[in-house]
Amino acid sequence: MTLIATDTTDDEAGFIKPNYPRNCWWVATTSKQLGREPLALTMLNTKVVLFRKEDGTVAVLEDRCPHRWAPLSSGKVVGDTIQCGYHGFTFDAAGTCVKIPSQAQIPGRCKVRAYTAVDKPPFVWVWMGDPEKIVQGPPADAEWPADPNYSSWSGETLAHGNYMLLKENVLDLTHFGYVHATSFKILDWVGAPTVTVTEDQVSFRQEFKDCNLPPMFAEVTAIGMQRKVNRYNYGSYVSPALNVATLDIEDLNAAPGQRTHFKFRVAHVTTPETPTRFRYLWFGGFDIPNMDPTTLSMCKTLTEVGFAEDKAIIEAVHRNIMEDPRHLDYPEIIVGTDQAAIQARRKLQAQLDKEKSD
Ligand code: FES
Repeated sequence: MTLIATDTTDDEAGFIKPNYPRNCWWVATTSKQLGREPLALTMLNTKVVLFRKEDGTVAVLEDRCPHRWAPLSSGKVVGDTIQCGYHGFTFDAAGTCVKIPSQAQIPGRCKVRAYTAVDKPPFVWVWMGDPEKIVQGPPADAEWPADPNYSSWSGETLAHGNYMLLKENVLDLTHFGYVHATSFKILDWVGAPTVTVTEDQVSFRQEFKDCNLPPMFAEVTAIGMQRKVNRYNYGSYVSPALNVATLDIEDLNAAPGQRTHFKFRVAHVTTPETPTRFRYLWFGGFDIPNMDPTTLSMCKTLTEVGFAEDKAIIEAVHRNIMEDPRHLDYPEIIVGTDQAAIQARRKLQAQLDKEKSD
């Protein structure tokens, strides 16, 4: 099995080619992080600038002024337009130049590319490809953090490696007992999960019956680490941008009147900056409204530690890949627990092939 390399544009190292479809909804940032100030980001090897218009809707433009190529993000937002910080050319949200301070005439080709964006809390999504290929909105699977019945926490990090390394990491959780042995302390995830593939998604499911809860879950639910519960873990590759995971906790030994079921959810969002670098945004949360700040802080800290461990192992894998002359074409030994990752690669490859033939 090889990781996918289908395009002809090399990354900055010149070795690994893009394996991200452009006709896809990608997360730019969180809804909370985007305001009226220009926000500069790199998405799919493209520099973009985002800002909110006066009505709160989102504008996304190529971050390069067509005059002398200054980044528009170094300018300022004026009303519903952005003014270049070099000579003041001004562009509306459609990318049309509406003002050149030094002359009345505006050349017809003085414009920048505009991208379609959807603010669907907690994320701002951008369609980076052909706008005529948009058939439906961003996946709804990542909307739960905006649900007031959940208490959630989040984070973001920049990782060096191909974004699929992270997506495959969260599809094979047998790494828990090794990478996260001293953080999450989930030591019983050993066997291969059940994997199902639908037209859109790849999903896994693993059940742990009559078992103990790891420390964070034991504390948040107040079940403790001694009482036996049932844990139902499942998750999905939703799209190249999004993986989700859920843990349902069933406490059949709860005292009368106590809550017997809890749900813990994670959204793993990956946005490639280049073929060898990606931003990783995540949310974790419980279906417990208004969790107290101390408990939330504990959950966030532990998640940051755990996801930093993921980043460290992924970047170590990436260094090995880059040092090998075969790069992403290196041979791997595949075992049963890789099934979900293999299916996700196939799903991605099919999407890339379709985009190429469209
Ligand atoms: Fe933008 Fe000159 S480079 S106005």
